[in-house]
Amino acid sequence: MRVPFWSTPREFAIEPLEIEDASALPRIHEEDFIRPWSEDEFADLLAQGNVFGFAAREVGKRQLGPVGFVLVRQAADEAEILTVAVARSARRLGLGRSLMDAVLRALHAARTASLFLEVDETNAPAIALYRRLGFIQVGRRPDYYKQPGGGRTGAIVMRRDLH
Ligand SMILES: CC(C)(COP(=O)(O)OP(=O)(O)OC[C@H]1O[C@@H](n2cnc3c(N)ncnc32)[C@H](O)[C@@H]1OP(=O)(O)O)[C@@H](O)C(=O)NCCC(=O)NCCS
Repeated sequence: MRVPFWSTPREFAIEPLEIEDASALPRIHEEDFIRPWSEDEFADLLAQGNVFGFAAREVGKRQLGPVGFVLVRQAADEAEILTVAVARSARRLGLGRSLMDAVLRALHAARTASLFLEVDETNAPAIALYRRLGFIQVGRRPDYYKQPGGGRTGAIVMRRDLH
């Protein structure tokens, strides 16, 4: 006999990242980055006046902390994505895109001209996300990232114009 199965769709909210979130961010960041950032590093960044970000939180599970986040630095009329990450358990649900959309809206409102980022040229999911959001490749840095096996991969520099 088949047991009926009803699944409730997961709901998420995109909200400004707070300094109190710093302790929850290394857990998400270390899932994929070879040099994970510490709680102190995140707290220092979030304390800087020109750094802001957004968090994705699961509705009803706020006490578990964010399941994804993005951090941005603004300088004059340009901005740069410092990092963006979604927990493996919450990928392909549209959160990476929603976090980046929130950044684009905030920068547009602040009259920022361009948003830049660097991405490992082998990171197909991130490159696909950025292309869908209108980023174009504007440069390449060879041998930029160290890989766990000892090799190196290049970085692609991408830009999204906001005018
Ligand atoms: C990149 C990352 C943030 C994407 O987050 P996500 O919440 O899974 O992405 P979304 O569900 O919003 O996907 C949006 C689009 O990105 C692309 N994409 C995301 N993951 C993909 C994958 N594994 N393969 C191919 N395309 C992918 C697709 O175009 C997708 O749209 P679709 O689902 O309609 O096809 C996530 O994979 C991640 O945290 N990776 C590890 C950290 C990282 O690499 N950060 C970027 C460093 S520059």
